[in-house]
Amino acid sequence: MLTNDLDFRLESRIKELYELHKERASRIDWGYHDFLPWEKGRNFQKEPWDQSQVTLPSGVVTAIETALLTEVNLPWFTTYLSQTFRGSLSVITDFIHTWTAEEDQHSNLLETYLLLTRNADPARLHMLRKSVVETGFEPDFHTPIEAMAYTTLQELATMVFYNNVAKVAGAHDPELATLLRRLAKDETLHYAFYRDVIRVHLELEPNYCYHLAHVIMNFKMPGAVMPDFEDRMSIIAKEANYGPLQYFDQVLDVVVDYWGLKDLRPIAPLAEKARIDILEYHARLQKVSQRFARMKK
Ligand SMILES: [Fe+2]
Ligand SMILES: [Fe+2]
Repeated sequence: MLTNDLDFRLESRIKELYELHKERASRIDWGYHDFLPWEKGRNFQKEPWDQSQVTLPSGVVTAIETALLTEVNLPWFTTYLSQTFRGSLSVITDFIHTWTAEEDQHSNLLETYLLLTRNADPARLHMLRKSVVETGFEPDFHTPIEAMAYTTLQELATMVFYNNVAKVAGAHDPELATLLRRLAKDETLHYAFYRDVIRVHLELEPNYCYHLAHVIMNFKMPGAVMPDFEDRMSIIAKEANYGPLQYFDQVLDVVVDYWGLKDLRPIAPLAEKARIDILEYHARLQKVSQRFARMKK
């Protein structure tokens, strides 16, 4: 039993998770207009942008810009999820609609912040945004279970990214830290939904872990399609508090633990092999992470 679709026996359980999500989200509903320093806005025609107007360290600007260029690809993330879950449980389609509506204001918030505070060249930002959206996004994972696993990792990574960058940004602009933490709250709820959909599948049928290995071992952020992504990520790792070390400690390790992969007992040999592969991959990254942590001391 190595089916890669969501399990119809879990329909009512997943409906409960969706209701829980909506209830939590309604308690923290927000509008991006409330998180922006409108008083800083100036007319670009009368007062053109100039590098000297930048007030934030370049590592923080790179982090905000990279987050923005990831969030702007929402039309393609929605397309990807809609296609992947066509014919699957209808509650997932409902969730994708809610999720899209919530994600929809993330890029607005980040872009408007950069424009109002003049921390990015508006013409360059416009060109980058256009080219990223034109490129679109297509991950390598096309089955419902894989897509759920991918979005779990991606939402948690995004949440950690915002919270970690907020720690560095707060020293330069507390309002920026506040808006990043606000975004992180949305990502936390998204992460919780996807993560729990996978967990209830593993509880019902441990063999589902067969589909997790490929995703976990080949995870890349959706922003990987933007120009200079690798350079951006290495700057962010050095200067804005999010890199491979944080990915291991705050994302991969957390998810492997939450899904109980160490104690899972799948019966199918291929599923057991996938489980061992994940644990070996996890152990390898743990060693690297510990070595880096020692070097930093
Ligand atoms: Fe987002
Ligand atoms: Fe999200």
